[in-house]
Amino acid sequence: MSNEKKARMLKINILRFDPHDPEDVPHMETFKVEESDGMTLYIVLNEIREHHDNSLKFDFVCRAGICGSCSMLVNGRPKLACRTLTSKLGEHITLAPLPLFELIGDLSIYTGKWMRYLNEHLETWIHDKEKELDVDKLEERMEPELANEIYELDRCVECGCCVAGCGTIQMRPTFTGAVGLNKIARYHLDPRDKRSDEEYYELIGDEDGIFGCMTLLGCEDVCPKDLPLQSKIAYLRRMMIKTSMKN
Ligand code: SF4
Ligand code: F3S
Ligand code: FES
Repeated sequence: MSNEKKARMLKINILRFDPHDPEDVPHMETFKVEESDGMTLYIVLNEIREHHDNSLKFDFVCRAGICGSCSMLVNGRPKLACRTLTSKLGEHITLAPLPLFELIGDLSIYTGKWMRYLNEHLETWIHDKEKELDVDKLEERMEPELANEIYELDRCVECGCCVAGCGTIQMRPTFTGAVGLNKIARYHLDPRDKRSDEEYYELIGDEDGIFGCMTLLGCEDVCPKDLPLQSKIAYLRRMMIKTSMKN
């Protein structure tokens, strides 16, 4: 008698919709895919596109959890398709696009537009007060512990999972969200960035920034890079309260 385990037949329910087709309406479609060893949802989606329906839209670039483009709702929870093993899921899997972002079609969303606005609004780059940029000064030695702390926060891949997982943004779309607050924490830590606490207060010292966060914790729960979002948000809140008391 063979000990070989029979492969599962996965039933993949996908929310399909083409917002550019006036005839189309959002609807579910189900595809059957035989599970293989080490299968990820990214592989599943490619199988569907190759063997069942080549019009299925979804995004990917790196297949290694680095580019952040394959984020989607998996059984209602934001995840990266390329880092999600089917073996961790049941036989019935439901996929939908992340909410809040512009829908391109099916599972493909336009996170880039949202992230670009966020980065421009929060000015997520090193601000040096000196007019002439002194490159040597930028290369000044930094303590390895501090460099590691900055690197840890720089691991954000702008996937949007924390945005989709935050109830506050659902109610107030102008809220910066954990992704933005994480970026501010990162630049505030960086000794090359010469913005004062007051200048940071201007950026996030309101309801669209740090005081809008209701500590719902969804962001940290769903972040595929396991960033310490909660502790950074708590740190920024303390810092902003102190700054507001100085004024
Ligand atoms: Fe994605 Fe985490 Fe960055 Fe949010 S903080 S965009 S969940 S990597
Ligand atoms: Fe949203 Fe995270 Fe705050 S889920 S409300 S940003 S703790
Ligand atoms: Fe790049 Fe999934 S394809 S993170």
